[in-house]
Amino acid sequence: MFVVVGVTGGIAAYKTVHLVRRLIGEGHEVHVVPTEDALRFVGQPTWEAISRNPVTTSVHEDVATVRHVSLGQRADLVIVAPATANTLAKMAAGLADDLLGTTLLATTAPVVVAPAMHTEMWRHSATQENMRVLRSRGVHVVGPADGPLAGGDSGPGRMSEPDEIADAALAVVAAAAGPRRVQDLAGLRVVVSAGGTREPLDPVRFLGNRSSGRQGVALAAAAADRGAEVTLVAAHIDGEVLGGVGDGVKVVSVGTALEMQDAVTEAASAADVVVMAAAVADYRPAEVAKAKLTKEAQGDRLTLELVENPDIVAALAAGRLSGQTVVAFAAETSSGDELLERAKRKRERKDVDLLVVNEVGWARGFESADNEVVVIDRSGEVAAEASGSKREVAEAVWDAVVATRR
Ligand code: C5P
Repeated sequence: MFVVVGVTGGIAAYKTVHLVRRLIGEGHEVHVVPTEDALRFVGQPTWEAISRNPVTTSVHEDVATVRHVSLGQRADLVIVAPATANTLAKMAAGLADDLLGTTLLATTAPVVVAPAMHTEMWRHSATQENMRVLRSRGVHVVGPADGPLAGGDSGPGRMSEPDEIADAALAVVAAAAGPRRVQDLAGLRVVVSAGGTREPLDPVRFLGNRSSGRQGVALAAAAADRGAEVTLVAAHIDGEVLGGVGDGVKVVSVGTALEMQDAVTEAASAADVVVMAAAVADYRPAEVAKAKLTKEAQGDRLTLELVENPDIVAALAAGRLSGQTVVAFAAETSSGDELLERAKRKRERKDVDLLVVNEVGWARGFESADNEVVVIDRSGEVAAEASGSKREVAEAVWDAVVATRR
């Protein structure tokens, strides 16, 4: 694999020497791209000797080979370790005033960063906002760890250990490569619901939601690749998104919450695992007008009466077959501790084995390619946290399912 290791100006740069050695030892071709500042901590001869490749910091050297973009274009993986607050800010802003900046903009490979800085800098809202931006673009973050920092301080901000960074980065590439060889869902029948239900008001209008179905499709595809026999109950998923489910997954299309209930309940009667990733309307219009509602008939105010839909996943969990695992999703607009507390209460209320919770908002969660989730288990503990592409999140959810069934 062609790996670019960006090194920025932090004392932890000396630890990155071990990271490069490990990658070389595992047979990868490694190109180190330090920033000018990084060279104050570990010099160019060290990087060249360890990586066995030339090392430059400038976009003006080796111009004939278009090195400022070629490294990024050729990379299968880019790791930035240590990643200083300054470099993370530059990445978030898309700045490209050195070779590392141009390389990062030119690459489509997975990018893994290992932040390292003082606790105050890590906790600063500017850094946290930059991290949010980077995560939302699919950048993978390892650490920082909690521990002794330069100058005798201690706290979160310490760069993760090189082996931890290498393990995480190689796992990211393995997940992005698609089908896993491990068939840990072989022999299991799995039902996944996905998309968003639409509750008709009249022949032409409905109450709906913004769920694209991407996360559910990724869950179904990942389960099939891990050996499961998969039924996807799909509510209003775009053909292009649904295409991502691949061969071998049985797709049942539904429209409303009641239709979804019928389809999921039937499929669940012979399933080992049910994952309700669909956004199901909690309420539906009490009556569906036979003809189109008109302004002439309604006047300047229209009142809709809604009735509650059955909670499909709660009913499944209440009547679950022996050995069946039931997983629910929760999209919440709260954040932090409040999000976790709400999630724990929701898991209890629905009595599901796992609750996968993600923060959503006008610009987060729905419709996007990436996701960030926390998985709560029966004990109310955080069983897993995952961020990245919806496929990566799907793999993490299945890992958690496999772990609870063990
Ligand atoms: O209560 P809330 O709608 O936040 O719960 C979300 C979870 O419950 C999701 O897994 C969703 O698929 C499921 N759900 C359901 N039936 C409903 C509403 C939500 O199964 N009527």
